[in-house]
Amino acid sequence: MPKNAESLQRAWDLLVAAGAVVAAIDIPARLALDYRATARATPLDWALTIIFLADMLRHLHRAGWMGARSLPGTWKPARRYAGWWFVIDLSAAIPVAAFSAPPLLQLLRLLKLGRIAERMWHWRRAEFQNPNIIRLAFFFFWLALSTHWIACGWLALRGASADVDQTTNYLRALYWSITTLATVGYGDITPSTNVEMLYAMLVMILGVGVYGYVIGNVAALLANMDPARVRHRELVDRVTAFMRYRRIPAGLQRRILDYYEYLWEKRLGYDESAAISGLPPALRTEVSLFLNRDILQKVPLFGGASDDFIKAIALEMRPMIFMPGDYVMRAGDPGEEMYFISRGTVEVVSAEGDVVYATLTTGDFFGEIALLLRQPRTASVRVVDYCDLYVLSVAAFNRVLTRYPGFAVHIRAVAKQRQEANEKHQGWNERRQF
Ligand code: CMP
Repeated sequence: MPKNAESLQRAWDLLVAAGAVVAAIDIPARLALDYRATARATPLDWALTIIFLADMLRHLHRAGWMGARSLPGTWKPARRYAGWWFVIDLSAAIPVAAFSAPPLLQLLRLLKLGRIAERMWHWRRAEFQNPNIIRLAFFFFWLALSTHWIACGWLALRGASADVDQTTNYLRALYWSITTLATVGYGDITPSTNVEMLYAMLVMILGVGVYGYVIGNVAALLANMDPARVRHRELVDRVTAFMRYRRIPAGLQRRILDYYEYLWEKRLGYDESAAISGLPPALRTEVSLFLNRDILQKVPLFGGASDDFIKAIALEMRPMIFMPGDYVMRAGDPGEEMYFISRGTVEVVSAEGDVVYATLTTGDFFGEIALLLRQPRTASVRVVDYCDLYVLSVAAFNRVLTRYPGFAVHIRAVAKQRQEANEKHQGWNERRQF
């Protein structure tokens, strides 16, 4: 859906929701305060009728009933819409006050709140960051409406007093509703008839439930403010206890803790590959592409590559972190992987580590020579500052090489250049020693 249409739809949904809330506040209040006056349709009634009717037509249109999408197959949503939602939308749109129907039937408009409940349900499912906050916010919304309804119910039972104005009548009822629901119950407004007593007891029981729910949710909210941080803290505590128990040297301990700190800063301590391993292949490709977009954009080698190639590479790459001073590989080791630098700097050095052949940084790659020529590593690679690398295993490297000859050509050319440079360097060094 185009962006404009989407914002328009959102604005319309908001208008309908606002209409439903206004109706949910206005109609019960009018019924409780001035029952007889509700027999007339007000301008607000007509406005709500127009909005709700338009909303119903919009839903009909979307369900394919109005010829917009009379393609085969569209009968399904249409049939679905013909069920409860159609009844709800239609009942909420009827201007009951315009007919000589019992005023209580005006409460049918409140059915439109079902649309808000449905939206909230979708939001809650889509919200992963703070589900508890969202749940509590929605709860307070319904609580506020319920408090108002309970106040209106109390007013309807007692009848508005003629000694004071309507606002005072309503405020007194609202005061009673809030003190009873909050389980405070000062007892300054007390039920006098049996029905009032029953009503008060019901509201008190409801109040106890509300109180428990709020306390429970706030506690859960505080405990889970940041579950990732809590998990990370636990992990670091476990590692620290282990290091103390095994008397790991202080310097090494500091390096380990530094590593965990860096991990937390950069990736929130989350193992990405494990998190997406359960997804179906198509979805996993899309997530991998998104996660690895950084490196795919930074490496010039992937610049003009086809979508297929990028997808293949994105699926195969694994992130890894190295710390300053670490050796990613040592000269003479067997080669099992090649690396792409997503962030940081490394030095390509001789076996003894005294000669620096090259410094590689973001967007560069290394470790390809051993894989191409099936020989031990030609040089060591030492990390200069914190490095985020992406690793391609030898199996994946070979798969990509056979499927995408362009990649093979480029990588072979770079490997050849590097080997020649090293040979020249070594020859020059040997001559200098003579
Ligand atoms: P490999 O031999 O598998 O392991 C060491 C890696 O260092 C090597 O592959 C190259 O990717 C890289 N390398 C070696 N020499 C140079 C150089 N002169 N310039 C840049 N990179 C190099």
